[in-house]
Amino acid sequence: MNVIITEDYDTLSEQSADIITNHVTGLEAPVLGLATGSTPLGTYNRLAARQAIAPIDYRHVSTINLDEYVGLGKAHPQSYHAFMKEKLFDHIEIPEANTHIPDGLAENRQAECERYEQLIDSIGPPDLQVLGIGHNGHIGFNEPGTSFQSETHVVNLAPSTREANARFFSSSEEVPCQAITMGIKSIMKSRKIVLLASGQSKAKAIERLFQEEPNEAFPASVLNQHPNVTLIVDQEAYQLVEQ
Ligand code: PGA
Repeated sequence: MNVIITEDYDTLSEQSADIITNHVTGLEAPVLGLATGSTPLGTYNRLAARQAIAPIDYRHVSTINLDEYVGLGKAHPQSYHAFMKEKLFDHIEIPEANTHIPDGLAENRQAECERYEQLIDSIGPPDLQVLGIGHNGHIGFNEPGTSFQSETHVVNLAPSTREANARFFSSSEEVPCQAITMGIKSIMKSRKIVLLASGQSKAKAIERLFQEEPNEAFPASVLNQHPNVTLIVDQEAYQLVEQ
């Protein structure tokens, strides 16, 4: 694993935006795997701001998002569809048909998971997958105990994950109980992975990432088996790693 330690969240976001920009400008038909949440937000803000100053072409880019809440449609303000549109897609003029996110309203969820995995295999795998990490080591919505062989599937969200995400909803009861997420095997198909971690609250998870052998009780540990992972981490999140 390559490790880039940055002074703060701003520098982390700058560096990950640079890596994405290099893929967008350097590849003929780049496929970007994208994540939602607080951590990649600074990255997306930078990509959006750069478009206003020195725009780059995104028409040849395809995106595949990690996950979506079950029960939330595109128009729901807390859906990941809405997040991606508001934070990134509306600012970079990427054709909507090129952007892919699981359908949280699909009546047949199993069929939706199968469709999504086939999509990953047909247009992907991502050249670059952006990932955050949960306090419990989850990646995407793959909670502890998820098989490393998992493909896109429906998950029951861990209480700690629902609690962590309650800040985006008006009450914790409103946080959906399930999500559709790319599986760990799906994520590991990516050619390159950029894992982002910022702030003291992620320090324990980053410590475990370095301490633990790959094991399903700590999903992010699987990344130690991937040949091309770059961790961009700020000093606060890196503080417990022995140097
Ligand atoms: P966060 O979420 O970026 O909002 O901290 C990360 C995650 O849960 O994967």
